Amino acid sequence: MVATVAVNVAVSQRAPSHPAWLWGVSLLEVQPRARQTPAPEMRCPAFVPGCRIGPVPIDIRDYRPEDEQAWLRCRVLSFLGTAYFDDVMTAKQSPAVGAELVAVEGGAVVGILDFSMDESLATIDTIGVHPDRQRQGIGTKLFECARIRAAALGATTIDAYTRDDEATLHWYRARGFTESDHYLHVYANYYANADEPAEAVEPRPGLFPIKLFLHAELEQEAEMRHKFQRVHVCRRFAQAIHVQ
Ligand SMILES: CC(C)(COP(=O)(O)OP(=O)(O)OC[C@H]1O[C@@H](n2cnc3c(N)ncnc32)[C@H](O)[C@@H]1OP(=O)(O)O)[C@@H](O)C(=O)NCCC(=O)NCCS
Repeated sequence: MVATVAVNVAVSQRAPSHPAWLWGVSLLEVQPRARQTPAPEMRCPAFVPGCRIGPVPIDIRDYRPEDEQAWLRCRVLSFLGTAYFDDVMTAKQSPAVGAELVAVEGGAVVGILDFSMDESLATIDTIGVHPDRQRQGIGTKLFECARIRAAALGATTIDAYTRDDEATLHWYRARGFTESDHYLHVYANYYANADEPAEAVEPRPGLFPIKLFLHAELEQEAEMRHKFQRVHVCRRFAQAIHVQ
């Protein structure tokens, strides 16, 4: 058993010190939040409807309940080629306070960004762009819109937690985020190696651990990579908000 590993099985991938969850591995990990009273339709002041990014106009607007299936599909597809490939939601969670933005192209949701507010901190809970529309400026426009919204809600800092996908890390760095708070996301998976669950937890009578998700300290990286096939370095990206 690895006594020093913080066992957050089916709880959270986010650093435990933070109140809201980011990038939950499974629905079981995400506590349902009180649904936000729908705000009146509000377009980001930075982007007029029909803002032209490529050949087809992109509209950045607020999420609507009727977007849910398109939002879920966009999220799954945008994560598919990343370290969050198995982070699948089948129902959308809404932040208690924050914003839910979608990028819409010809009626199709091609980008999504949710952030939640905790006093003066805005945390990006979800950001994703459909794989066919990545690297065309949509993620940046969603982010710029989110910064304006977050500032309007009183945020002085915006942050996000993400794993070790090089393209995503490059994107955050190029957007001016500073990196900190590194820690490990560890998966103990019987089907990857039948010995892995026993390296992580001691089973209770009658229960046979098959797949476990755990947090660990960055200092344990070599040990964790030796014991488990799937280990990610998670980190916080943050930047101050200076919106005029
Ligand atoms: C990370 C992500 C949200 C970024 O969104 P995106 O729309 O692909 O990113 P952008 O197009 O705004 O920016 C990407 C790059 O393309 C460039 N770009 C912008 N418009 C462009 C265009 N028309 N043609 C080519 N490149 C363009 C940008 O300048 C930027 O350059 P950089 O790499 O030097 O920073 C998106 O790639 C994604 O969904 N990734 C998978 C999911 C994921 O990892 N989510 C985050 C988990 S925390």
